[in-house]
Amino acid sequence: MTRSETIEARDPSIVIDVKDLRFSYGPGLPDVLKGVDLRVRQGEFVALLGQNGAGKTTLAKHLNGLHQPTSGEVRVAGKRVADQPLSVLARSVGYCYQNPDHQIFSSSVAKEVGFGPTNLGYSSAEVDELVSDALDLVGIAALRDAHPFTLGRGQRQLVAVASILAMDPRLLVIDEPTTGMDRVGGMRAMGLLSKWASEGRTILVITHDMDLVSEFIDRSVVMAGGRILADGPTQDVFRDTAVLEEAHLMAPAPVTISDRLERFGVDRAKSISEAVGQLVGPTEGR
Ligand SMILES: Nc1ncnc2c1ncn2[C@@H]1O[C@H](COP(=O)(O)OP(=O)(O)O)[C@@H](O)[C@H]1O
Ligand SMILES: [Mg+2]
Repeated sequence: MTRSETIEARDPSIVIDVKDLRFSYGPGLPDVLKGVDLRVRQGEFVALLGQNGAGKTTLAKHLNGLHQPTSGEVRVAGKRVADQPLSVLARSVGYCYQNPDHQIFSSSVAKEVGFGPTNLGYSSAEVDELVSDALDLVGIAALRDAHPFTLGRGQRQLVAVASILAMDPRLLVIDEPTTGMDRVGGMRAMGLLSKWASEGRTILVITHDMDLVSEFIDRSVVMAGGRILADGPTQDVFRDTAVLEEAHLMAPAPVTISDRLERFGVDRAKSISEAVGQLVGPTEGR
């Protein structure tokens, strides 16, 4: 290890530190991660984008030890993931599965959300409070006694998010949280996530919803074929047509429209309401 690496490893603000990560699902199978480098600081809210099969979920599962690198290194909060038991990682890395049904197994929403904190050793009164807080946060307090499998997919996704939140992890990794949610639900979820990030949690969100990313997430990482193609401010990444094309992604309409308007001196906009505001001034109260 060089001197600069030693110093970097001690930088406490770096929460995710992935270096030259390669991974294959088994001997003789091709690498699905082909040298991934990613560094995320505390309090950052980052989108991980890319078409199906790009390697997003595989990368995410390295952060909580569900996968171990074939080569390269993955550190979370300065510590090598490979050196830590899954039970310890479960406390510091909240991982929400792409399919909530791979995560949910209890007979009531309250039991499901309370499972993690109970396992972490909280008293039943404390668990009760953590459950109430988590359900309030995601806006499903009324579903406390419902059976998770009577709920719609969007609501089950919220149950999965609440059950991770109840453990108050420093790092949240959420695989496609808005799948199955309507527009309002998706916006609500994103608003909530950006608030948590502003409170100092670090959040990595895997999503296909380019509109929501444009509006809520400042940094975007684009993957294709097991590699990171781009990593930077969302509004720059969304204007890199070569990257979008290679990753089979499409910039959301407001970005494309605002891009054209920029030529006429209109400031960049990241959402429809922002674009309208810049064209005709604030519309509130009209
Ligand atoms: N359990 C598995 N065994 C073998 N190959 C897999 C497995 N899971 C995923 N893959 C392959 O790894 C690649 C990346 O998949 P994945 O990480 O799920 O991508 P994404 O989340 O971006 O859709 C794909 O080619 C996929 O077919
Ligand atoms: Mg995936």
